Amino acid sequence: MEEIQAITEGKIIAKRWKVVEKLGEGGMGAVFKVRDITRFQTYAAMKVEGDISDGGVLKLECHVLKNLAPLPNCARLMDSGDRKTYCFMVMTLLGKDLMAHKREANTARLCDQTTLRLAMGTLFAIKQIHEVGFAHRDIKPGNCVTGIHGSDAKNIYLIDYGMVRKFTANKDNGAVGLRKARSGEQLFRGTPRYCSMNVHQRKEQGRVDDLWSWLYMLIELHCGLPWRRLTDEKEIMEAKGACPMETLLKGCPKEFANIYKYLETIEYKDRPDYFGLWSECFTGFKRVRGSFFGRFEWELDKGPEDMFTALCISEKRAPNDYKVASKMQMAKKIWPYADSAEFKKNILKL
Ligand SMILES: Nc1ncnc2c1ncn2[C@@H]1O[C@H](COP(=O)(O)OP(=O)(O)O)[C@@H](O)[C@H]1O
Ligand SMILES: [Mg+2]
Repeated sequence: MEEIQAITEGKIIAKRWKVVEKLGEGGMGAVFKVRDITRFQTYAAMKVEGDISDGGVLKLECHVLKNLAPLPNCARLMDSGDRKTYCFMVMTLLGKDLMAHKREANTARLCDQTTLRLAMGTLFAIKQIHEVGFAHRDIKPGNCVTGIHGSDAKNIYLIDYGMVRKFTANKDNGAVGLRKARSGEQLFRGTPRYCSMNVHQRKEQGRVDDLWSWLYMLIELHCGLPWRRLTDEKEIMEAKGACPMETLLKGCPKEFANIYKYLETIEYKDRPDYFGLWSECFTGFKRVRGSFFGRFEWELDKGPEDMFTALCISEKRAPNDYKVASKMQMAKKIWPYADSAEFKKNILKL
């Protein structure tokens, strides 16, 4: 970590990235806000890894970002490099993670509207990484961030690809197939509070396990998980295993019960029904009269509400056609997670 301590405000890396401030710190390194000194007022996020004796994970993270490049609404890789004592990766600067946002909102519970909207946003972000063949294996509030500017502050991005695993493999005929799940005991990968029972039992993780973590994360953000005060992995596993669905979901949007029951029916080899999961969330969102233009709790004191005029809501059309787009049509254009069609797309075909 010494190498990283030497990275302080004002330092310039690769003749281009000037360190502005530290955004976060983890086991392997740190994340900084940096300014691109070769461009006018351009900022980015730089993740730095200090201990690279065993190769580190930043190369893997870069690899995932490169794979995500053709997909909309994902962070972009802008630069990367090796130094003698550290590695760095420069990516799109994003906003705060969901834990930080909730802390800022200073509330023990998030409202149904916020939770269901986060459910759709994070599901879309998870689907994107699955579509390029990776299971994330560490879905949690600290790894989900919002955008920064305007409507992008209501978008959700998944970061931290240090624990991903490819679940696809190229078959002999060149087609993409499912990578065989390893049998036997696997190393623990993830975070005990949010991992699926499968992971406690050291089984191979795939898409379904990311979705269990997704559900646990949403419950934690909404009203808290029953095992949130435990720290020992074995104790967490016992609490999780013994917790009936009704207790776990007490106080949550009622649609979560269908999600829970659905997740119980799928396993490693199955493509999750993203559209079905989204539909449950969207049904709840309509039930509580949620609006995609509404504010998250942490945005409540951020100046006047957005306003819409005929100009911003009109589409390209014939000059004498004054029909304006509906709010729902607008939402779909701005936030991909508002659009059912995004969840019906099967890009990976697996
Ligand atoms: N692109 C980014 N833009 C803004 N903040 C970021 C970005 N990447 C990471 N962060 C912040 O830094 C924290 C740690 O980054 P993360 O990639 O999760 O590393 P770690 O492996 O240490 O958990 C995140 O929780 C987030 O708050
Ligand atoms: Mg992280």
